[in-house]
Amino acid sequence: MKPSVLIVEDEPQMRRLLELNLGGDEYIAHSVGTAEDALKFIETSHVDVVLSDLKLPSMSGLELLEAVRRIRADLPFVVMTAYGSVESAVGAMKAGANDYIPKPFPSWDAVKIVIARALDVRRLREENRNLREALGQRYDLPGIVAQSPKMQEALGLVERVAQTNSTVLICGESGVGKDLVARAIHQRSRRSKGPFVKINSTAIPENLLESELFGYEKGAFTGAATSKPGKFELADGGTLFLDEIGDVPPPVQVKLLRVLQEREFERLGGTKTVKVDVRLVAATNRDLRAALEDGTFREDLYYRLNVVPINLPPLREHKEDISALAALFLRKYAQSSGKRIDGISPAAMERLTQFHWPGNVRELENVIERAVALSQGPVIEPGDILIDEATPKPSAGAAPFLPEGITLEQWEDEMIREAMRRAAGNKSQAARLLGLSRNALRYRLSKLGFADDAEN
Ligand SMILES: Nc1ncnc2c1ncn2[C@@H]1O[C@H](COP(=O)(O)OP(=O)(O)OP(=O)(O)O)[C@@H](O)[C@H]1O
Ligand SMILES: [Mg+2]
Repeated sequence: MKPSVLIVEDEPQMRRLLELNLGGDEYIAHSVGTAEDALKFIETSHVDVVLSDLKLPSMSGLELLEAVRRIRADLPFVVMTAYGSVESAVGAMKAGANDYIPKPFPSWDAVKIVIARALDVRRLREENRNLREALGQRYDLPGIVAQSPKMQEALGLVERVAQTNSTVLICGESGVGKDLVARAIHQRSRRSKGPFVKINSTAIPENLLESELFGYEKGAFTGAATSKPGKFELADGGTLFLDEIGDVPPPVQVKLLRVLQEREFERLGGTKTVKVDVRLVAATNRDLRAALEDGTFREDLYYRLNVVPINLPPLREHKEDISALAALFLRKYAQSSGKRIDGISPAAMERLTQFHWPGNVRELENVIERAVALSQGPVIEPGDILIDEATPKPSAGAAPFLPEGITLEQWEDEMIREAMRRAAGNKSQAARLLGLSRNALRYRLSKLGFADDAEN
């Protein structure tokens, strides 16, 4: 059955155009001229997705959205926004819209893509919910340990999202398996025969990131002696994994937004528009919402990326997986070192499960690798387990507090100066010390009156 689209548009000519272009092979299109009529229609007829203007005669599109959310929380709702009005788009997304499309439309295809995506995501969420509810459903992916409910939930999402073209945002602390999961999404998708291309925005100097992503034409800048395709072109037909998305500088964010919306871009110094078929998987080990508050990360891009978030838990929150992970790494390193080691003694295992693993699965892997190297017998003993206990646990005693007479803001400023001193002025390193993105640090430094010399 064709999905039914309800068009809410007060301008008669536009309404007819929408109905003509959307109705037909793919959808059954209905249209109304006011929000009030839309509500009546939704209450009495079958609707799969709403496409609504924001500006409507009496009740606004936003009010309609709120009313619809009260009666059908999961009905896909796409708003049409005035071109360039980022605030209204973001406002609508915050109020629960699934997506937005600027007016005038970039193309009719763009409208259809947005609608199809909204339907896709709804189906995905529904299926995931149903599957989780179905008793005994377990997900199993080669090379990924996931016995705990939290990891099962993550893998369930991986499995479902892999079948779609949705953008995926993987969040989680360093070492929790974001790379592993990004690859799994690619492998489980219809794109698995296509390329998997990874790019890490912190590993590339900021001024090169744009040309790495989008490519350049000969003569685009000094040194561009030939033209070169970017990662987006290299990933055509496959998956682009953009690691550390929180560190992408604002000009590149704008370009990313356009690729996500229109699936096209130009190379640096180029005039020809390049169209690509790429699924973007992004990852971050920071809370991007903090970057939104700082203004270092665009809200519209955030909502585009956050269509399907996959949150990977820190290892201390799924300790049930520690013994299977340890066994996996033991096999891996015993094999590569040619040692015969059969297992881990109960006392050694006890040490592994007691630790809080600030470095997550990667740290556990390193500890097992070392244990294999140290071990003298067929079993790993507690003495073989060298854990770097120096990393402080959250302290149990009196909670530290701000020094007398200092405000939180002054304290933060002082910490930022201290981090810059410790990092000898290197912003990337100072950002790491503070757990901030480079952009967020740059923003704070500019407030403190540091010169912005772009690099390092
Ligand atoms: N659930 C898991 N099962 C098996 N191996 C895992 C699992 N999670 C992580 N690993 C392994 O732990 C190591 C670190 O994982 P990965 O590189 O994917 O982490 P990450 O979240 O991308 O870290 P970073 O933020 O530092 O980039 C890898 O060797 C990975 O294979
Ligand atoms: Mg990684």
